[in-house]
Amino acid sequence: MTDYKELNACAKALTEGVGDNIANLANISALLFQMMENVSWAGFYIAKDGGKLVLGPFQGRPACTEIMCGRGVCGTAMERKTAVVVEDVHLFPGHIACDPRSRSEIVIPIFREGTVFGVLDIDSEEKGRFTDADLEGLTALVKTLEEVLV
Ligand code: SME
Repeated sequence: MTDYKELNACAKALTEGVGDNIANLANISALLFQMMENVSWAGFYIAKDGGKLVLGPFQGRPACTEIMCGRGVCGTAMERKTAVVVEDVHLFPGHIACDPRSRSEIVIPIFREGTVFGVLDIDSEEKGRFTDADLEGLTALVKTLEEVLV
C-alpha cells in the first residue's frame, strides 16, 4: 500500500519554491511512478482552450496527446469537475485505450483559480487497483500541487 503521508511530504519538499508548473508536474509524476505499486502510467493532462486536455508530463508508455472534454475517463473528470475511479476500464463507456493492457484508472481534476487546470491520471494493469485510500491520498496530493501552481 502506498504511504501517502510520505508521498505528500516528498511532493511538498520537491515543489517548494519551484515556480514552474512543468518542472513540478514532471517531478510529481516521477514520484508517483516510483512510490506506487502496480501502476503502469502516472501523469498529467493540461486543459487548453477550455474544451480539451493536452498531454503533459508523465511516466510510462507514450499516450494519447489530446482528449476532448467529456470524452474518456479524463474528459469525464474534467467535465464533471470531480474525481473518477474506474474499477474495470472495459466496463467504462468511452474509455480511451491508450494502452490496451490498462485495466483500472483513477483521474482527479486539478483546479487553479476556480477553473480546471488539468487532471492527474493514473493507470494500472490490475483490475480494481484504486481504493478509497488511494482516492483520499491522491486528492491530498493534488491539493499540495494546487498550492504551488503558478
Ligand atoms: N484512458 C484515458 C486516456 C489517457 S491514458 O490512460 C494515459 C481516458 O480514458 O481518458
